[in-house]
Amino acid sequence: MRIAPSLLFVPAYLTWAAPSQTLPFLFATDNEEGVQFVSDLNPYPNKPRITFKSDGTFKITVFSDLHFGENPWDDWGPVQDANSLKLMRTVLPSERPDYVVINGDLITGENTFRENSTSLIDEIMGPINEAKVPFSSTQGNHDNQANITHLEEIQRELRVAPMSYTRTAPKGVGGAGGEGNYWVPVYYSIHDKAPALILWFFDSRGGFSPGKNSQPVDDWVDASVARWLEHETRRMDEAWGPEGRQALAFVHIPPHAVQALQATLDPDTNPGLNADTLGGGSTQATVDSDDLGNDEVWWTALTKNVKNLRAIVSGHDHGNEWCAREPTADVIFCFDKHSGYGGYGDHSWDFGVRNFVFKSPDPGAPLDTWIRLESGVTRAKVVLDSNFDV
Ligand SMILES: *[C@@H]1O[C@H](CO)[C@@H](O)[C@H](O)[C@H]1NC(C)=O
Ligand SMILES: *[C@@H]1O[C@H](CO)[C@@H](O)[C@H](O)[C@H]1NC(C)=O
Repeated sequence: MRIAPSLLFVPAYLTWAAPSQTLPFLFATDNEEGVQFVSDLNPYPNKPRITFKSDGTFKITVFSDLHFGENPWDDWGPVQDANSLKLMRTVLPSERPDYVVINGDLITGENTFRENSTSLIDEIMGPINEAKVPFSSTQGNHDNQANITHLEEIQRELRVAPMSYTRTAPKGVGGAGGEGNYWVPVYYSIHDKAPALILWFFDSRGGFSPGKNSQPVDDWVDASVARWLEHETRRMDEAWGPEGRQALAFVHIPPHAVQALQATLDPDTNPGLNADTLGGGSTQATVDSDDLGNDEVWWTALTKNVKNLRAIVSGHDHGNEWCAREPTADVIFCFDKHSGYGGYGDHSWDFGVRNFVFKSPDPGAPLDTWIRLESGVTRAKVVLDSNFDV
């Protein structure tokens, strides 16, 4: 393996941070040629464009924390996975979403075996492939463990699920164990020049590095993602204009800024289960208290640069379902819903999904969201717009 000497040990974003930069952006790589990454505003040349329905709406269903593969050596582990598959096969044909998000912790990686850990991805993709619905995933802290990595899960998903829009960030972006940073354009109608909605996906890493000498992995979105995000939004503004687009963002571990919201929740304004008290490990950069604040570079870049960001959506804390407005950045945060029978929790919390329905391409239009339980019961419905939780 040869590495271009000029790129050695230079964080990738530093090589293109200079304002005088005129070349196409260059990311450091560890492969022979060195890859020049030019931001591509058509990231899926070989896949169908994702569009709103002809009635002008667009529905997203979010599965979260599926936690497949728990305790394969006893009875209840495999039973949990069978129950989770049943939930997916109940929800998908009933909700008929236009897009599905799997928001991290697909697998309880610490219970898996080196030789077959990614076969759990095949199981999860079964109901998705049957539903023939476009989708993509983020990965969580349990997806980085001694016998599994985020990258392995993504590669396996792309191999077995033809409708996957999951991508990896350019080399040098995301940090070790944090490859899953990307965006997906959604068009109002198929021949539109510019997308009406950008779905952003971020990798909050966490968990442990692979192999025998497994070490903790940083539990926040890396600062290199902030530089990449600024670059991508600038390119989008140049190509499509700065206005008229809305966005929705997904990241497995909640940004640390949302921890303070829990003290101000109002059951009428912020309905939904609130059974997990947020503390160390519940939000980004809090597993080790010395890391506190390390997600702020990304958080600031996201909330400043992504216009009409309708919400940021996380899982990780299985007992929470609420949405609330973070007043400093003036952006709405929503927990999604624990979908997997695996993972910690309490059966009284129930299992389900979060739905979002865009009713118009207008970024100011109401955005409906609610929790749907496996039984079909709906709860915690709110309308996300400029009046929500102000
Ligand atoms: C990883 O896989 C190996 C080989 O199957 C197994 O011996 C080990 O117990 C697994 N788990 C961990 C945490 O290493
Ligand atoms: C993986 O291999 C282990 C050990 O042989 C086995 O117990 C487990 O059921 C297998 N898991 C899957 C998902 O095939």
